[in-house]
Amino acid sequence: MTRETAPDRSTEGMVDYDANSRAQKQNALHNSDVIFDLAKRVATQSLPLNITDYGCGPGQSAIETVRPALSAWSSRPHTDLSVCHADQPGNDWNSLMGLVFGDNGYANDANAPLVRTSVGSFYERMMPDSSVTIATCFFASHWLSQSVRLYAPETIWFADLTGEARKKMWRLAESDWVNFLQLRAEELQPGGYLFVSALGAVPEAGEINGIAAAGRGNYRAQQAVVASMVEDGELDRDVADNFVFGLWFLTADEARQTIERSDSLSKLYEIDTIEAEYVDDGGDLFLDCLSDPLEYARRYSGYTRAYAGTTLRRNLFEPSSGRGRTADEIEAEFFRRFEALYAEKTNEYACEQWHLKAILKRI
Ligand SMILES: C[S@@+](CC[C@H](N)C(=O)[O-])C[C@H]1O[C@@H](n2cnc3c(N)ncnc32)[C@H](O)[C@@H]1O
Repeated sequence: MTRETAPDRSTEGMVDYDANSRAQKQNALHNSDVIFDLAKRVATQSLPLNITDYGCGPGQSAIETVRPALSAWSSRPHTDLSVCHADQPGNDWNSLMGLVFGDNGYANDANAPLVRTSVGSFYERMMPDSSVTIATCFFASHWLSQSVRLYAPETIWFADLTGEARKKMWRLAESDWVNFLQLRAEELQPGGYLFVSALGAVPEAGEINGIAAAGRGNYRAQQAVVASMVEDGELDRDVADNFVFGLWFLTADEARQTIERSDSLSKLYEIDTIEAEYVDDGGDLFLDCLSDPLEYARRYSGYTRAYAGTTLRRNLFEPSSGRGRTADEIEAEFFRRFEALYAEKTNEYACEQWHLKAILKRI
């Protein structure tokens, strides 16, 4: 496995995010009662109240994530309140601020909080010591700290790795989870809460490694297209054989045991909740379009482009270009085949969702 440089973080510059982030929006709305409840628990403490949303992204879900806390804190003077949106340099900050200050934002409300941003990586410090009351991180911490090059010709996805390759990937995922928690502990106020909601995984007999991980159909569809393009000489075999998305979807046991086995983490946090839950949307993110295979395929393609397009481009399409094909042409061919596959096989590649929910109280 080789380490790559920070600007290569794979989710920077996501495309068409707001239009293609159905799962993320559903998740923010689904968790609004939990955020409200956590914010109520800390509402009377004397320190200024801050909610920081790590890996906020550019879309409306960033607003929906912080809004419940602001409503729980509405009796506090606005000078005591701040919101910080934290993400990487490549985030579409202009779009986000357009939403924050727009009609469906919160910045023009009566009692509006101070609006702040923090630009960097959540695998480094993003906020001052003891300054955050509620830390949220939604649909972001499953991205590892670096892109990964690992010999795995059979897959582009962590959950289908086996043997030594899986062990190497887990070592990185585990150390990222520890690092993320340690950094947030420095930033949280005593008594504050960290709420992580990420793509997750659950035990399932008969699955590779005995684990069913969120989005398995979607990643396997991408793998099928990669394999067909390698076969046809459209993608460089060596590049494809060494590409794996820098992702890990934790099971509840992995998330919990990492904390319980660490002397330092178990002194920093009290575990409120750690569970992986099945998102009961009929087992298919775009079930509502299933009767129209072309629309179904377009939706999956838009969704996949939004979260994976930049990663695929940097790690597969650009390194495979230059033999009479540009990265743009390879990308167009990839998504043409991807849509054709979904239109033909439809819900054979449905995207099911399991979410890891971790709520930790800073001691
Ligand atoms: C799928 S989006 C989720 C955005 C939003 N939280 C939501 O739920 O809609 C993932 C976000 O995590 C951010 N992200 C990924 N790795 C990060 C890192 N190391 N540090 C900060 N942000 C990161 C990406 O830039 C992206 O905006």
